[in-house]
Amino acid sequence: DDSYTLVKDGTLTVVAELGFAPFEYMNDQTGDPEGFDVDVINAVAEKMGLQCEYLPNQKFDTLVPLIKQGGKADVSIAAITITDEREESVDFSEPYLDSNQAIVALKGSTETEATLNDASKQVVCQGGTTGNDWITENLPNATCVPVDDVTAALTGVQTGLYNAMVVDLPVAKYMLTNSFSDLDIIEEIATGEQYGIAISKDNPNLTKAVNKALEDMKSDGTMDSIETKWFGS
Ligand code: ARG
Repeated sequence: DDSYTLVKDGTLTVVAELGFAPFEYMNDQTGDPEGFDVDVINAVAEKMGLQCEYLPNQKFDTLVPLIKQGGKADVSIAAITITDEREESVDFSEPYLDSNQAIVALKGSTETEATLNDASKQVVCQGGTTGNDWITENLPNATCVPVDDVTAALTGVQTGLYNAMVVDLPVAKYMLTNSFSDLDIIEEIATGEQYGIAISKDNPNLTKAVNKALEDMKSDGTMDSIETKWFGS
């Protein structure tokens, strides 16, 4: 067993932004992180014969820099889209899930991509996300408002503070079903994103081991059962 050469003390240290249900969120009862990504990384760690330990919640836009800087966390799993820009700073595992973006607005709203592209329109997003990039590129005239917290952003759309939010489609679907029933997905945007686990470029053997674990999880049904648990069949 060479796991000690990959991480310290047999513990895979994980950092995330824990406000992104159903991928990662805090269970208020237990105080533990929960979600699709939490199940994935726990299964990865188990395959590698490691314990899994979450560090305290961090802002999304600090995750890639934290992994790049090294020393604090071994991996970040946080519905992080694999992008060329991020790949300059960190390595990514093989993709573990496909995703897209969504535009969310009040139910009955007449906003469209076209009407939102105006300086009078406030379009909110989580700062540093691919949704943030999408607004900058595709709604250059809109007033883009990056915030840290997705729930606060959606609450702002609900109260009319913002005209719309751009966020990952599976998160929009989940949060609108579970808490924000007066909001609607007014447009799905086929960005064709893929989520990967971010790992320091200084630890290529860890990336290899994580990829091996993911491959095993895809072939032995573990990944399917995690997908079914969180997204249905
Ligand atoms: N997939 C998007 C991105 O990589 C959003 C991820 C946000 N994740 C989170 N845990 N808040 O930019």
